[in-house]
Amino acid sequence: MDEHATRIWAHRGASAYAPENTLPAFELALAQGAEGVEFDVQLSADGTIVVIHDETLARTTDGTGNVCDHTFAQLRRLDACAGHVGFRGVTIPSLDEVLEVLEPSGVTINIELKNSEVPYPGLEEQVVAAVASFGLAGRVVLSTFSEQSVRRLGPLAGGSELAFLYTDPRLRPWRPAAELGVAAIHPPLPYVFGAGFVRRAQAAGFAVRPWVVDGERSLRRMLRYGVDAVFTNTVDVAVAVRSGG
Ligand code: G3P
Ligand code: MG
Repeated sequence: MDEHATRIWAHRGASAYAPENTLPAFELALAQGAEGVEFDVQLSADGTIVVIHDETLARTTDGTGNVCDHTFAQLRRLDACAGHVGFRGVTIPSLDEVLEVLEPSGVTINIELKNSEVPYPGLEEQVVAAVASFGLAGRVVLSTFSEQSVRRLGPLAGGSELAFLYTDPRLRPWRPAAELGVAAIHPPLPYVFGAGFVRRAQAAGFAVRPWVVDGERSLRRMLRYGVDAVFTNTVDVAVAVRSGG
């Protein structure tokens, strides 16, 4: 592949087709040809890093209440199929289980720390230690909506890349990104304002990876703008669009 080609990163795994943030979603993302996989991590009440997006359980599992109030054993008893037919009984994975699946594949691994609502003290250290224990630092991108957490990650990252993740419109996100010392910006798709925006970010030294880019039109536009990667729930569509389909 052309070294400048836009990379395709699976958002919460192949989450259009399999329950988000579960092992089947990650396996399917690899099978569909993703070059990167993104997922979200939090801590169980007894300190296991678990892979789940919401701070609460109701949307994606048959449980209720907060992730942080349940032990890993309790979380494990929940069904995380999130209504996907054919996936009954799939469970919330631990970070270690996900890294085990992704390690042999060679894909880039974007671990998003979900610590802006529940602060999860020590999550940064624990994530970095888990990544190091798999020898994966060089393939990992760490991101979080919490700027405080990005700052904490700075001296810890151990060779992993840091990314600036944000939700509000920013005309020059490369400025806070430079101040935070990260290597990439992860803007919401609506805030990728044009090819010039992407070029300026890249000229300032930052990779640009918008989320979430699913429809063919948006995919084509982001490819035209030359973003470094797209986060997508539909890896298969993105692969087809990129190859001219
Ligand atoms: O990391 C990109 C994207 O996942 C950020 O938003 O809410 O889907 O975790 P969210
Ligand atoms: Mg995420």
